[in-house]
Amino acid sequence: MSAPTDPTPSAPEGLKRTLPIFSLEGKTCVVTGGARGLGYVMSQAFISSGANVAIVDLNGAEAITSAKTLQETYTLTNPTLPAPKVTAHTCDVSDPTSVSATFQKILESHPSGIDVLVTSAGFTENYKAEEYPHDRIQKLWGVNVDGTYLCAVEVAKEWIKSKKQGGSIIMVGSMSGSAVNVPQPQAPYNASKAAVRQLAASFAIEWAEHGIRVNCISPGYMMTALTKKIIDEQPELYNNWVSRIPAGRMGNPVDLMGAVVYLASDASSYVTGADLRIDGGYTVI
Ligand SMILES: NC(=O)c1ccc[n+]([C@@H]2O[C@H](COP(=O)([O-])OP(=O)(O)OC[C@H]3O[C@@H](n4cnc5c(N)ncnc54)[C@H](O)[C@@H]3O)[C@@H](O)[C@H]2O)c1
Repeated sequence: MSAPTDPTPSAPEGLKRTLPIFSLEGKTCVVTGGARGLGYVMSQAFISSGANVAIVDLNGAEAITSAKTLQETYTLTNPTLPAPKVTAHTCDVSDPTSVSATFQKILESHPSGIDVLVTSAGFTENYKAEEYPHDRIQKLWGVNVDGTYLCAVEVAKEWIKSKKQGGSIIMVGSMSGSAVNVPQPQAPYNASKAAVRQLAASFAIEWAEHGIRVNCISPGYMMTALTKKIIDEQPELYNNWVSRIPAGRMGNPVDLMGAVVYLASDASSYVTGADLRIDGGYTVI
């Protein structure tokens, strides 16, 4: 007598089943700061979920290399599936003229329109408050706050004009928008991320009537080039940071993949104005 067949065979590796509402099939996602770090990994998550991606970054050369790598890696690992379209766009998100020209170019490259915007371009610096050069504060707020504002407004204007429903904007804030990191002094960065969280909430209310959702994700300490540079310069910081994280480790950028796909997809169609903290529990103690 032959053995009974398993009634629930598992799906082949790489094709694990999930709810179809998580799919981003056919959508186009714009990711600022997508040439590296968290933006790059979130772009990877979008491509794996069926989306096309436009990478927007100040570092145009790195954006081109990253777009190529993302596309080639996907095609290599999924040879039977259609290749995603991944484009690279050089842009300074703190400059209104550059932002406006870039979104025009994105629409030319992706004529079916933009469905999702992630604002990940941003940076941090450590200076004592009383020693922080004023021009550096303005530069930081220009990228982290104005850059987020300008890109969000640019895409919302397009969606309102075209009466698109269901666009999703995901702003990358930080746990620093809710808690003061120690021991490193970074008051303007913390203020910039509190501003990002409040921009997401405010835009969510203003644009709800247009069917536009706006949410914020607030990562804790994630291991990227940005944090690696800080740890390399001050190696004692690593143990200090980790000792304060209930999860006992720094985050890996892949820890953001599920959250960003959720907020980009129809799975979160009733979620707007939210701040999703992904910080290993840092901000609840
Ligand atoms: N890494 C972390 O621990 C962490 C934690 C919380 C929040 N964040 C936030 O996540 C975002 C991404 O951080 P990351 O760690 O990936 O940094 P990263 O430095 O690795 O990547 C940032 C990207 O933004 C681009 N960029 C910088 N200025 C720009 C500008 N003016 N216009 C367009 N692009 C610009 C850079 O070229 C770079 O590719 C930032 O907003 C950061 O504040 C990071």
